[in-house]
Order: sequence, then C-alpha cells, then structure tokens
Amino acid sequence: MEEKNVNLKTALPGPISKQMGELREQNVPKGLTSLTPVYAAEAEGALLKDVDGNVFLDFVGGIGVLNAGHCPPEVVKAVKEQLDKFLHTCFQVMPYEPYVKLAEQLNQLVPGNFPKKTMFVNSGAEAVENAVKIARRYTKKTGIISLDCSFHGRTYLGMSLTGKVKPYRYNYGPFVADTYKIPSPYCYRCLQYKEYPGCNIECLEFLERFFVTSVEPDRIAAVIIEPVEGEGGFIVTPPEYFEKLRGICDKHDILMICDEIQTGFGRTGKFLAMEHSGVAPDLTTTAKSLGAGLPISAVTGKAEIMDAVGPGEIGTTYGGNPLACIAALEVVKMMKEQDLPARSQEIGDKIFARLKELQAKHPFIGDIRGQGAMVAIETVKPGTKEPDPAKAGQIIGNCINSGLLVLKAGIYDNVVRMLVPLVITEEQLASGLDLLQAAIEK
Ligand SMILES: Cc1ncc(COP(=O)(O)O)c(C=O)c1O
Repeated sequence: MEEKNVNLKTALPGPISKQMGELREQNVPKGLTSLTPVYAAEAEGALLKDVDGNVFLDFVGGIGVLNAGHCPPEVVKAVKEQLDKFLHTCFQVMPYEPYVKLAEQLNQLVPGNFPKKTMFVNSGAEAVENAVKIARRYTKKTGIISLDCSFHGRTYLGMSLTGKVKPYRYNYGPFVADTYKIPSPYCYRCLQYKEYPGCNIECLEFLERFFVTSVEPDRIAAVIIEPVEGEGGFIVTPPEYFEKLRGICDKHDILMICDEIQTGFGRTGKFLAMEHSGVAPDLTTTAKSLGAGLPISAVTGKAEIMDAVGPGEIGTTYGGNPLACIAALEVVKMMKEQDLPARSQEIGDKIFARLKELQAKHPFIGDIRGQGAMVAIETVKPGTKEPDPAKAGQIIGNCINSGLLVLKAGIYDNVVRMLVPLVITEEQLASGLDLLQAAIEK
C-alpha cells in the first residue's frame, strides 16, 4: 500500500461501497452486522484501505485477530510457498509436519510446568466446545461453570456459557444442560461494593455459595474463564482471583479452562495473559491472532487430560489446515523475534496515558481499564456509574467518520475497546490517539 497513514478521500460510504451495500442488502441476512459501511480492498500493518481508496487506521484488528498486523510479509511468503505444495489432506487422513510443529510450539508457550498436548480446530467457539468436551471426558463429570460477563462464542455451547442476553442468547433457548454462571470479578461494578486491591477477592464467595445452594462440586467438571473478559468490556480478572480459583478447583477436582482467544498472542503484554497471574490452567483455548487471519484455533492442555479422549472422539475435517498452521508458525516466530508482547505493553501504556488525561476533563469516561494493548473506556452518565451506551456509540461513530476504527463491547454496550495491531508505527499510533481524542472531545 502506498499510503502510510489514515487518509479519507470520499464521504463514507464512497460510491463503490454504496453499490456493494445495495448488493449486500439483497443477498446477506440482516443478522450479520458490520462496524463500517465500507468494503475492504487491501490492508497492511495497521492500515485498511476501502474500495473507494479511503485509508483507515485499524484499532480493531479484525476483532483481535491481527496482533501481528494485516498481511505480515513473513506470513504471506510462507503461506504462498505452502500453496504450491498442498492445500488439504485432513489431519485424520494423512498428517503433516506444520500441524505437529505448531502443537510443539503451543505446548511450550502455554503456561504450565507439565507435559502438554495440543489439538487444532477452526474457530474460537469450536475450541471452547472441544475444551469442554475434553474436560467432561476426563473428569467423568458434566457441570460447567462460566462467568456472567463472559463471551465464549455463538454455537449452542458458546451461547450457553456466554453471559449477555441481547444479542447473544435472546430467544435462542433452551441452552446446553448443566451449564451455570457465577458473577464476574467486575471491579468497577463490584456487587459487594468492595475496592480492589484490598477486597480479599470476596467475589469468589459466589462460587462457594453456588456449591452450597445450586450444585455440589462433585458434579462440576470445569470452570471456564477469560483472563480479561473481552466482549464483556475488557474486564481484567485480578491475578489473586486466579490463585484462589486454582485452590478451589484443586480442592474439588474441577478443571480450570482459560479462554485466551481474545487475550492471547501478545495482546496483554505477555504471550498469554495467564502469565500475569503465574497460575497454570489445565486447558487453554486460543484462536484469533494465532493465525494472522487464517482460521485456526487450538486447545492446549495437560497431556494426561488431553489423552483421556479415546481414538476418533475428537477431530474435524479442516482443523489445523496446513495453510493456517504455516501462518501460525510464522506468527509465533514474529512474536518472539520482534518481542511483540513487550511492544504491546508500550502501546498500551501510551493509550492509557492519553485516556487518563481525557478522563480528567470528561466525566463521562467512568473507567479506563485493560492489560497491555487491550484497552477500553467505559462511558457513564457524569457523576454516576449509570452506563451510557449512547455516548460510547457517539465516540465510535466520530472515530469511524474520521478514519479510525474502534469497536464497542460491554454487557451494557457502553465500552469502547481497542485492539491495535502490535506492528503499528509510532506515527500511526500518534495519529490514532489524536483522532480518538478529537472523537471524545466532539
Ligand atoms: C474469549 C472468546 N472466546 C470465544 C470466542 C469465539 O470465537 P469465534 O468467533 O472465532 O468462534 C471469542 C470471539 O470473540 C472470544 O473473544
């Protein structure tokens, strides 16, 4: 791409995007929504160009998929080479080296000082499905507990575990049996009106109470939790929560599944967010930035647990497609060679600093939170904590109209979140922050 920074040439949408929008209206269901009214033409690093030549700064990264940036040259080159060899064999028919090598990499990178094994599937939701399946098979128990601000995907199990009614669960029940929720450690809206730190993580009493009032721990196979709840509004789980949860799980032979689908691959300043807590989950799900845009997801876990599944009980036709495995191997190499997790922390610190200045002037910014370059603001009615989703919508609209892509999140739809590609240049980051500031001030 010739352009090196944001550059809008037409009103949005431009004429070609407008035409495509009309074609879409006739052919694509309304239930699929898009952040922007424009259509993509090409992309590079943190820039996304539309079919009318408008260049956007991408602070969304395909919803956390592009930590390594749009079209990293190393990934594109390796995928092109693989294109000339073979596209698909199905791992269950004739296996291939990139799958095994990638499994080896993830077994080394996922937290936990014990032997691990990894399987690959196609999407985040499918990884969650398999992690739960494996947990039930290993423990011979059926109950699964998730958190009430979580997001785990849009399949029936994903929806069942997810904690937001509209638009995810509304009118779609009944849900998968033996799935339960406990309140999230949402410190800004603590249900016990405590302040972190110093609260002694009393919110885990909800879990202890659940074992008394709802289901005995002997029937619970696993607790599934995101280190930072992504769709829920970038709610950071305190490290001490994980320490305590680990103790409770161990006491009752319950597995801990960490869903690192959004937090993984350098997003939070570490390769995986669980490194912040020093606690090792039994099973970890990854997806999104693993494949730099090629569809791939993984379940990595204790070898003993992963091997409890009988031959042929797991697998899928496309899982661990060779092109996606090759892309992921290059992503891992890039992350290590360029130390992108460290860059994530730098980017996050810069965004945080700017947002803090803005919060001092604008009382509708109720909270700023995140980990590394996973940063968000929560908008409220000034002087209260009443959620203000309209304000979040206005900020996002202002950003898009000036060429900066940012995305909504939050159980109350009042969170503006950023998932900046970690290869962004300093100039682009500065431009993006200026546009964000202008959008907030407007
Ligand atoms: C934490 C988490 N889990 C699961 C999913 C579902 O992933 P997918 O959309 O690839 O099925 C997402 C997607 O946003 C996610 O953020």
